[in-house]
Amino acid sequence: MYVKALCFILLFVVAGTVTYASPLSYTSRASSNDTIAAELEKMKNFTTLLTLANISNLTSTLENASLSVTLFAPTNDGISSTLKAANISESAVVKNSTLVKMILEYHIVPQPLKTSSFSTVNSFKTLEGSNITVTKNNTGIFVNGFEIIKKNVKADKSIIQVIDGLLIPPGIVV
Ligand SMILES: *[C@@H]1O[C@H](CO)[C@@H](O)[C@H](O)[C@H]1NC(C)=O
Ligand SMILES: *[C@@H]1O[C@H](CO)[C@@H](O)[C@H](O)[C@H]1NC(C)=O
Ligand SMILES: *[C@@H]1O[C@H](CO)[C@@H](O)[C@H](O)[C@H]1NC(C)=O
Ligand SMILES: *[C@@H]1O[C@H](CO)[C@@H](O)[C@H](O)[C@H]1NC(C)=O
Ligand SMILES: *[C@@H]1O[C@H](CO)[C@@H](O)[C@H](O)[C@H]1NC(C)=O
Ligand SMILES: *[C@@H]1O[C@H](CO)[C@@H](O)[C@H](O)[C@H]1NC(C)=O
Ligand SMILES: *[C@@H]1O[C@H](CO)[C@@H](O)[C@H](O)[C@H]1NC(C)=O
Ligand SMILES: *[C@@H]1O[C@H](CO)[C@@H](O)[C@H](O)[C@H]1NC(C)=O
Ligand SMILES: *[C@@H]1O[C@H](CO)[C@@H](O)[C@H](O)[C@H]1NC(C)=O
Repeated sequence: MYVKALCFILLFVVAGTVTYASPLSYTSRASSNDTIAAELEKMKNFTTLLTLANISNLTSTLENASLSVTLFAPTNDGISSTLKAANISESAVVKNSTLVKMILEYHIVPQPLKTSSFSTVNSFKTLEGSNITVTKNNTGIFVNGFEIIKKNVKADKSIIQVIDGLLIPPGIVV
């Protein structure tokens, strides 16, 4: 109990958000334009994702201009609605940085993917190790059922596909 409370307090300190009510508030930081992190900052609506990246030490990955990946980027609203639907509290997620890292790595495929390359059903191995499924129909393109709502955002050698929900790797217990 004491250890859990301490971890929680430490996370607030690490994220630099001592005075906010939400455990997922975000402070903007300078990074060069065109990196994934910079594009996410410019597009807005990705402060939760950027905070999760910070918690799990993935910020430097998202700032790495040499990287050539696809990030399926959930919006703030997408993350909160997924957690709400699964009855998972934000604080339960953020206090386990290993868990946050697994979840975020499940959003990254180690090759740049444009939507034009997708067929009706596609399977891609993520950095987390499990596959995501991308499907295409008359309505749109979906990643594990969540729609790609903004397509093919370039970030250096990488591509961002914006999705409206958080992808939870199979077998993860929160
Ligand atoms: C990320 O975490 C570092 C400490 O590890 C902190 O200095 C920085 O402000 C945080 N950045 C954001 C955007 O939360
Ligand atoms: C990134 O580009 C925006 C405008 O496109 C500009 O306002 C901002 O200062 C740039 N940031 C950096 C770190 O170069
Ligand atoms: C982005 O944020 C703005 C204001 O915070 C909101 O009105 C808009 O619906 C959001 N868009 C998405 C795609 O989440
Ligand atoms: C950036 O990504 C490249 C390509 O994956 C990798 O070789 C390099 O070590 C990374 N740099 C950092 C600082 O992580
Ligand atoms: C959500 O979780 C809380 C706490 O674990 C529990 O009390 C509540 O019944 C759950 N609600 C649903 C809809 O599962
Ligand atoms: C992130 O880095 C901090 C400090 O180096 C470390 O204590 C923590 O375990 C790391 N978290 C992950 C998920 O790698
Ligand atoms: C953190 O999450 C990972 C992955 O779900 C799990 O294996 C680990 O036991 C969790 N750690 C704590 C302290 O709950
Ligand atoms: C995972 O996706 C890769 C392609 O990236 C494919 O070769 C492999 O068969 C898939 N695995 C499963 C279990 O679907
Ligand atoms: C397209 O796929 C999505 C996600 O699986 C589904 O919700 C939607 O109903 C499908 N649309 C059609 C026209 O089949």
